Order: sequence, then structure tokens, then C-alpha cells
Amino acid sequence: MYSINELALREKRVFIRVDYNVPMKDGIITDDTRIRLSLPTILHALKNKSRIILASHLGRPSGSRKKEFSLEPVAARLAELLDQEIYFFEDCVGMGVQQLIRDMKPGQILMLENLRFYAEEIENTNSFARDLAKLADIYINDAFAVSHRKNASVYALPRLMETKAMGLLMKNEIEKLSKLFKLTHGDKFFAIIGGAKVSDKIGIIRSLLDSVDALFIGGAMAYTFLEAQGHHMGKSLVERDKLDLARDILKGAKARNVEILLPVDHITAPSIDSFETEIHSTDEFPENGIAFDIGPETLQLYQRKMAEAEFVLWNGPMGVFEKEQFATGSFELAKTVSELSAYTVAGGGDSASLMEKAGVAEKFSHISTGGGASLEFLQLKTLLGLEVL
Ligand code: 3PG
Repeated sequence: MYSINELALREKRVFIRVDYNVPMKDGIITDDTRIRLSLPTILHALKNKSRIILASHLGRPSGSRKKEFSLEPVAARLAELLDQEIYFFEDCVGMGVQQLIRDMKPGQILMLENLRFYAEEIENTNSFARDLAKLADIYINDAFAVSHRKNASVYALPRLMETKAMGLLMKNEIEKLSKLFKLTHGDKFFAIIGGAKVSDKIGIIRSLLDSVDALFIGGAMAYTFLEAQGHHMGKSLVERDKLDLARDILKGAKARNVEILLPVDHITAPSIDSFETEIHSTDEFPENGIAFDIGPETLQLYQRKMAEAEFVLWNGPMGVFEKEQFATGSFELAKTVSELSAYTVAGGGDSASLMEKAGVAEKFSHISTGGGASLEFLQLKTLLGLEVL
């Protein structure tokens, strides 16, 4: 597999599949991390005087044109960051865009409209991929976060292209995440798994059981595990139909000698917007209580145990960290992990934004741009989008 810096780019039409699926509120980008992290690849292509075509998806518009999913605000942000004009085209394929690209000069950048305005993108249709292939001489995949999807721009398109490579963001993700495959026997590998649902994390938990020494569980999924153990978690979010699955995981962990850490106490409140918080232990959880964060004793327990770690993988928050009254568990544990001398990786779900908010992102060894993609990469050691490169 080549990377972009091994290819001759001069004057070539270089199609870069980026992942600009950024969070937006009322047309404003609320976190531009994915745009900023795509800059090294774009700057490399610019320095080498190529004609750059950027393509991405944004959200899930399900094959129809919806203004709120337009990439136009993203093009504007990129123009600011590069201090360069970005041409924006309201379509992805066809004669119009082909003509525009023919007229482009080396060093110019064109951004296409949301690929997912075409159902053919999600359906991985060959004819759509063929139309995209007409736009470029070289294909670059720098969209790590969507490379687990069999979408036309990720899968069918590179299969049609003769010259293809990964971008620098992709290369960095693979190098940094692959360090977790190099663990040797005896290395202490701990995983922190949080978030709302056990069902979202089954695959990763199952595959982690073969390599981790301890699994620290937080977030609402902990309540499903606790109920599965016979505790009563009041009115907290529990996936009742996943209790057997949770028991299965606990059994699997025991058989493999993997220590499972579950919260021994919780921050509760009458509702998610309430500031009337209380602390309750798992053993004496109130019938009407709703838990939203791990409690102080759990935090201490997790922090103490963390000190032994040599490799840490963090996926998902310990509580509803978006609300300040339920953020302490996630923020404090994040601080502890960031200060370890261990190799620390965060990825998946809200982990990147959690580390940013906790002010510790810089101190992690790696923060992945990928949600589902980073989990799938860790599970399968490859991604569909890499296979075709
Ligand atoms: C992501 O944000 O995880 C990627 O951009 C993939 O988006 P998707 O889950 O809508 O395919």
C-alpha cells in the first residue's frame, strides 16, 4: 500500500476522499478537528502542484439533496484554514464538473457536494464509481473514519483507479492504532469502555477480551452489566433485552482471566437536566434513582488501578459529560489516563470530543478521528477501504 508522498502528483488530477462529517448546529461547524487534520495531505498535494478534488459525505441525507447536509460551510472553513480560495461545485459527477476540473490550474482546489446526496454512494454502485473515476488520475483515501463503510467513494472507486494511495491522516491513524497489536505477553493492557449501549460495543468488547487484562466499564452500559449481575439500578437506562448478552460477556471475561471493573457508586438525579444530584452505591440503589455518572468511590477505584497500565484504550464516556453535573467521572479519569506514562489511545463515539473538553487531548498518545472505523480496525486489523488500496 502506497502513501501519497510516494506518488508523483505534479499537474495530476488528485481525488482526495476526506471525512468532513463534522458536527454542525444551525449551519455552523461546532468542531473542525477533522478538517484541520486533513490539512497535511492537502498541503502536500498543493506543494506538489496537483489539481485537488476533495470529496466527502456529511451526515446521512439518505440519497436526497438536503440543504442542512450541504458541504458548503465546510468548504468555507477550509478556505479560511488554508487562506486560499476553494471552488465549490453543487454536484459530484457529470459533464459540468468534468469541464470545471479540466479548466483547473495546478495548485487549485475544488470541493464536491455531499457524496451521500446520491443513494449510489451508500449502495456502492459501480456506475457512480465510474462517474467519479472520470474526474481524476490519482485516488487518495484520507477518510479513515468512513473506511469501514462499503461506500462507492471508499470501495468501488479505488478498485477502478490504477494509481491510488492513502493520505497522511490515514497513515498516521494506522501507525498509531497498530501499536496496540504489538503488545507482548505480560504488557498490562487496560480498556475503558463507556457509552450508552452494550449493543453498540459487543464486537469490540468480545475481541478485547482476548487481549486486555482489565476492562473498566462506565456509562449507561454499566447499568445493564450491573442488572445482569443481579443489582437493581432503579430507573437508570438498562437494555433489558441485552442482559443475557452482558452475562455472556462477564462469563467470557472470567474464563479468560480478564478483570471486569464496574461502578460501585453513582451520581444520580431526578432527570438529566436536574442539578439535584446525589451519590448512591450500587448495593443500595434507590428504586426511583437514575444514574448519570460514575460516583467518587468508583472514580478512585478506577484511578488507582489505572496506575498499573502500560497500554490504555479508551472508548466512550463514563457519564453524560455534556452536562457539567455529570462530567466529573469522565473528566477526572481522562486526566489520570493522560498523565500515565503508558501508551494511551482514545477513539470511538464521543471520546475525541470528551478529551478536548477535558483539556487532555494533547497528552494522549493518539486520538483517533474514527468512531466505528477505529473499533473495526482494532477488531479486524484492517478496513474495507484499505483492502482496496
Ligand atoms: C463517522 O463519523 O463515524 C464517519 O464519518 C462515518 O459516518 P457514518 O456512520 O454515517 O457512515
